[in-house]
Amino acid sequence: MYQTLLTSLENNILTITINRPDKLNALNKTVMQELSSVMDEVYNNEEIRSVIITGAGAKSFVAGADISEFVGLSVVEGTTLAEDGQKTFKKIEESPKPVVAAVNGFALGGGCELAMACHFRIASTNAKFGQPEVNLGLIPGYGGTQRLVQLIGKGRAIEMIISANLIDANTALQYGLVNYVVAPEELLEKATSILSVVNTKAPIAVAKAIESANAVFNETKNGYDVEVKSFGHCFGTEDMKEGTSAFLEKRKASFKGK
Ligand code: COA
Repeated sequence: MYQTLLTSLENNILTITINRPDKLNALNKTVMQELSSVMDEVYNNEEIRSVIITGAGAKSFVAGADISEFVGLSVVEGTTLAEDGQKTFKKIEESPKPVVAAVNGFALGGGCELAMACHFRIASTNAKFGQPEVNLGLIPGYGGTQRLVQLIGKGRAIEMIISANLIDANTALQYGLVNYVVAPEELLEKATSILSVVNTKAPIAVAKAIESANAVFNETKNGYDVEVKSFGHCFGTEDMKEGTSAFLEKRKASFKGK
């Protein structure tokens, strides 16, 4: 179905594997278009409850945007490239269904930006994170200057971006860029076990929690207002009635996403 992505849906978890291992899974135009399309599928397919994004091969999550496609671009074309990239990654960030990055090696440039657009990140011990665009006379353009500051703070983010230094998985853990560091062979298992728990919760509540947390970083919104509206919205759902009744009746809730 996709040229550059492998997808598999198991137990309501969609695993998306970026599949250009010979190019360390660099994000070319096709990958970006297909990521946008697969996110449409995530939004619309009721069978998908949560998502894992990872890279093919043992070496790399994603080693950046495909540098070969940068050659000869004009200012206007470069601007459009960043606009389109940001739009696609925003679709991931604003997904009502949780998206976890399983970072299995290099997460550089657009790869680090992709991981940061996900709701949280799990790294394998061999992961390396960085925004090395200044080596190319560039800066991050798919949201990296914003999300890196949000996740690790301005001082560390600016140092990483202007030095192009890479950090290892344990430093990423210490910085709060990733939630866990696990052995490479345990990476997908760890992501799956967390999402299996999340998938037992009320889907609308999960979506509203993501929307409210995202509002912290959206200057056009007041996060507290978004939270109030989201909290109120949940009272109109069957799942909220089921969840509270189940607690009071001392039984396990069965949620329907309604
Ligand atoms: N864009 C396009 N191709 C890329 C790429 C990228 N971002 N990253 C790696 N590749 C390609 C290499 O050109 C090479 O292709 P080839 O075999 O046809 O020559 C292949 O992937 C393997 O990469 P290679 O550089 O040989 O592997 P390495 O182990 O020596 O080095 C990296 C790994 C990640 C350090 C190195 O590939 C690198 O620095 N990549 C670019 C990182 C970057 O600047 N990202 C930000 C882009 S905005």
